[in-house]
Amino acid sequence: MKIIGTGRSHPSLVVTNEMLTHILDTSDEWITSRTGIKERRVISSENLEDLAIDAAKKALADANMDAKDLDYIICANVVNEFVSPAMSCIIQGAIGATCPCFDLNGACVGFIYALEIAESFYRSGKYKNILIVCAEEPSRMVNWHDRTASVLFGDGAGAVVLTEGDNIKATKMSASCNWDRLYQKHELQYSPYNSKPNSNLPLVMHGQDVFMFATKAAIRDISNVLKQSGIKPDEVDHFLIHQANLRIIKSIKDFLRQPEEKFPLNIHRYGNTSSASVPILLDEVNKEGKLKRGDLIVLSAFGAGFVSGACILEW
Ligand code: UT7
Repeated sequence: MKIIGTGRSHPSLVVTNEMLTHILDTSDEWITSRTGIKERRVISSENLEDLAIDAAKKALADANMDAKDLDYIICANVVNEFVSPAMSCIIQGAIGATCPCFDLNGACVGFIYALEIAESFYRSGKYKNILIVCAEEPSRMVNWHDRTASVLFGDGAGAVVLTEGDNIKATKMSASCNWDRLYQKHELQYSPYNSKPNSNLPLVMHGQDVFMFATKAAIRDISNVLKQSGIKPDEVDHFLIHQANLRIIKSIKDFLRQPEEKFPLNIHRYGNTSSASVPILLDEVNKEGKLKRGDLIVLSAFGAGFVSGACILEW
């Protein structure tokens, strides 16, 4: 398969590091030097569905495709307003598509998971045009009084349209169960017949463990897809890495011994937007005209689970 359209959508509210110093014991210097983040977008008046629908419509317009021609919609998402139905159903109705759809929760790796699933759909020969939408609102997961986690995230949506092609060169997905390093429990109630206490726990993150996992996993997955495809790091034109922490991206860059220009960044503007991070970055470099036909692109993401994944594709 190949990517023929990209789109993204951001909340209008920009929350700078300086703004966070009014509600948290933190500083622009700490956040910038430890993460690379200067500001993030946070949902205020919008709904997450609005962003997802907007990104989907932009990707369809970029692909010059009518929603009626879609054969499948996959939405990557961790949390949204609805327990049911899936957010992909809401997107499907709003854009005027008639195809089947489902959601997947792959944490920050949702986009790479969706690409690999879409690739296997193509191989089955059953579906031709697939829309992937990644829409995330981590601002509703973190405790805004917890400076160790709340400064890291931002909300947003990214989307791609796929059709038949031979542009995916290799994919690698990994999982290792260390769920207690980064997790959040649902705000669900137990029945009076269940003795467990009801709880409303925000996101729990052991930052240094996640940092170490992320760096190792990304290097391992990227090395794997390069080996599978027989492509050397020098031949890759762009490395689009999950924008979680600038220091993680720099470690990957140093390991691969590749120049900075190959690693586009937007972490300073958006922070970590979970599964939307890589498709938002892809749309930015695409719309900036930085991608040429035939360019080789590595995508890599890592997140709660721990899960991780990488993919190499030709533009
Ligand atoms: O998609 C995956 C999502 N998660 C991640 O990507 C997180 C990966 N981990 C990280 O990015 C880093 O571990 C963090 C940015 C979260 C933290 O950076 P660190 O260099 O590992 O800092 P640390 O946790 O060792 O904390 C150092 C100090 C501590 O103070 P003390 O104990 O040395 O006095 C923290 O309490 O920094 C303090 N601190 C802060 N200070 C100001 C923690 N958060 C903040 C803050 N502002 N926001």
